[in-house]
Amino acid sequence: MIDFNIPPHVGTELDYIKEAIQNKKLCGDGPFTKKCSEWIKNEFNVNQVFLTTSCTHALEMAALLADIKEGDEVIMPSYTFVSTADAFVQRGASIVFVDIRSDTLNIDETLIEDAVTPATKAIVPVHYAGVSCEMDTILDIAKHHNLKVIEDAAQGFGSTYKGRPLGTIGDFGCYSFHETKNLSMGEGGAILFQDNTLQEKAEILREKGTNRSKFFRGQIDKYTWMDYGSSYLPSDLNAAYLWAQLEAVKTIQEDRMASFRFYNDKLKPLAQRGYFEQPVIPEGIEHNAHMYYIKLPDLETRSKLITYLKKKNILSVFHYVPLHSSPAGQKFGRFHGIDRYTTKESERLLRLPMYYGLTQDTKEYIVDTIACYFTGQY
Ligand SMILES: Cc1ncc(COP(=O)(O)O)c(C=O)c1O
Repeated sequence: MIDFNIPPHVGTELDYIKEAIQNKKLCGDGPFTKKCSEWIKNEFNVNQVFLTTSCTHALEMAALLADIKEGDEVIMPSYTFVSTADAFVQRGASIVFVDIRSDTLNIDETLIEDAVTPATKAIVPVHYAGVSCEMDTILDIAKHHNLKVIEDAAQGFGSTYKGRPLGTIGDFGCYSFHETKNLSMGEGGAILFQDNTLQEKAEILREKGTNRSKFFRGQIDKYTWMDYGSSYLPSDLNAAYLWAQLEAVKTIQEDRMASFRFYNDKLKPLAQRGYFEQPVIPEGIEHNAHMYYIKLPDLETRSKLITYLKKKNILSVFHYVPLHSSPAGQKFGRFHGIDRYTTKESERLLRLPMYYGLTQDTKEYIVDTIACYFTGQY
C-alpha cells in the first residue's frame, strides 16, 4: 500500500538524539530546544520563539497570552482542525465561524468585518495547505476594531505572504511539528510573537506557572509559583529530532515542491477536461508544498475515487468535517452568514500522498492510476 504520509526523516536524527542523551539533558529547554528556537528567530526575523509540545498547545498559549476570556468572541473558519477552536473554547470564548474562499479554502477575508461584534477579541486565520490567508485585509480589520490576530500556521512552516514568513505576521503565530507536517519532532509545535514584553508571561505559562526560566538563566536564586501555567515545553529528545530537520530544511522543502509540481503538471490535462480542480496559489504567496489536493465535482465522485485508489493500493484522504456542523461546534459556536463553500468544498476535497522522499515511480503510478480512473486508459 502506498502510504498517505511518512514522517520526515533525513538520517541525522539518531546522532542528535544520542547527543541529547550524552548531554544528560532530556527535559525541556536543553541545548537542542535552544538551537531550534534560535534558528527560527534568525531565519524568520521574529523576536520570540518557544517550542511547544504541539500546535494545539501553542494555540492554547496564544489564547492565554491574548487574554481571551469568558464571553469573548473569536472569528475563524469552520473548515479547520478542532484545535483551532478548542484553544479558545477552553478560555470560555464562543466561536464565530465565517465561510471560506472557494479558491484557497482559507477564511474569506471579505466576510470577516460583518462578523465583528462588541464582544469580538480575535481573528484566527488558518493558512490551509500552507497557502497564506489574505493577511493585509485581515490586519486592517484587526487594527480598525482593536482585535488580536492569531495565525494558525500549523501547516505553514516555510511559506510566505508578500515575503513575510507565515506565523510572524499577526500578534501570535503557531506551528505544528506533528509527524504529518513538513518538518517534524513526532509531536510538537512552536509559538512565535514579536512583543518582547510578553516574554516573561510566556515563560511562566510554559513552565507550570513558575519563573524557572529566569532561574535557569541565573537571574534569580530560586524559582517560585508566579501565575497560572501548564507544561508546554517539549523534551530535548524531540527537539534533537527537529534540529536534524531544520538543518535539512532546504532539501525537505525542495523535495516536496518537486512532488507538488509533478502532480500539478501531470494532472493538468485532466483538470482542463473538467474532471476535477487543482489548487490555486494567489499572487504574492510562496507556499511550502504541504499538501497536494484535488477537488472532485461532488462527494459521490470523491468516494468512488477513494475506493478505486485503495483497490490500486493508494491511500488518499480527506479531512475537516466543518466544525460548525459538529456537536461541539454547535455547542461552542455559531456560523455567521451563509455557508456557501465550507461544506461544499470539504465534501469534494481529496488529498494525495505527499511526504518527503515520495519516489518518482510512486508519483507516476499515482497520476497514471487517476488518469486511468477518469479516461479508462494509462
Ligand atoms: C490547521 C491546524 N491547526 C492545528 C493543528 C494541531 O496541530 P498539533 O497536532 O501539532 O497539535 C493541526 C493539525 O493537523 C492543523 O491542521
